[in-house]
Amino acid sequence: MKNSYSNIYTFNEKILNKLINSLKNGGVAGLPTETVYGLGGNAYLKKSVEKIFQLKGRPKNNPLIIHYHNLNDAKNDIEINNCLVNLYRKFCPGPITFILNRKMKSKIHPSACAKLNTVAVRFPKHRIVRTLLKKIKFPLAMPSANKSSGVSPVSPKDVFEEFKGKLKLIINGGTCKIGIESTVIDLTGTPQILRPGIIDKILIEKSLKLKVLYNFKNKKIISPGMMKKHYSPGIPVLINQTKHDGKSAFIYLGYNHKYKNSFFSLSKKSNLKEAATNLYRIFRLIKRKGYKKIQICKIPNTGPGIAINDRIRRASKF
Ligand code: TXA
Ligand code: MG
Repeated sequence: MKNSYSNIYTFNEKILNKLINSLKNGGVAGLPTETVYGLGGNAYLKKSVEKIFQLKGRPKNNPLIIHYHNLNDAKNDIEINNCLVNLYRKFCPGPITFILNRKMKSKIHPSACAKLNTVAVRFPKHRIVRTLLKKIKFPLAMPSANKSSGVSPVSPKDVFEEFKGKLKLIINGGTCKIGIESTVIDLTGTPQILRPGIIDKILIEKSLKLKVLYNFKNKKIISPGMMKKHYSPGIPVLINQTKHDGKSAFIYLGYNHKYKNSFFSLSKKSNLKEAATNLYRIFRLIKRKGYKKIQICKIPNTGPGIAINDRIRRASKF
């Protein structure tokens, strides 16, 4: 008998060929990356791009990230500049996405970029997606594999939970090591961070030897995806909480409440990188346990804490 996870596959030669065939012909698949799972399709095909938007229920004005094996593979689609080369050498493959001007001759389907003349590119690090990208002759348009405005998936079962039987192919690449989405940085002018991530402003400034701006708190939305309500687990989220209300799930740092029900630690050692990795997994765990509300303690706003605060602030706009 088929089990409910029958569309989750172990990665091997046979499944790789099946995957390549499907993607060539406009199919989409749930794929692991080091950040979160993605819903990947052929970025050059209208059919694939449309399927991605439709499955996610994503507004058409919110562009997708285009994933490549290496910079050379991207050179016909994007205008390469010095900042890109610098950050590519330092951080790629890895959890960072670059916004660049798109070349006129680019074959990326315009609707993948929401018809903008810029394009978001990323070079993911996960072994499975790199093996795939090396073999195919097209890049992958790949947003996080969740329904629009929800929590990004960090395991193949999370992807299954999002799309059930509607997604025929999910590749099992284990639990995501980073657990939150890549840093998004606009390099079309003075570098500015549109979505904070594990590769933070200080690391980027050190590499570029330049001052980098933040642009994710502004009222003006320059990245259509930076809508306030986002990353929502589907139940109310309250941030900067100090006292448990007695019935909600309480997310905190450390191990003080280790033996208490309803308390969930993001990191026993209060390590912010580990906390980021656990955030979405714990959101889903709490939801599955049937809690009706989430309270979260104050998270220090440094390093990975900046990315965590960005996500929980948006989740709290539910
Ligand atoms: O870690 C990640 O980046 C994951 C994995 C699967 O690679 N992907 C991901 O994709 O988080 P998505 O679609 O959930 O988020 C992409 C973000 C959105 O906020 C979108 O608005 C922004 O990138 N974006 C894409 N193209 C853009 C562009 N041309 N200009 C500004 N922002 C753009
Ligand atoms: Mg997303």
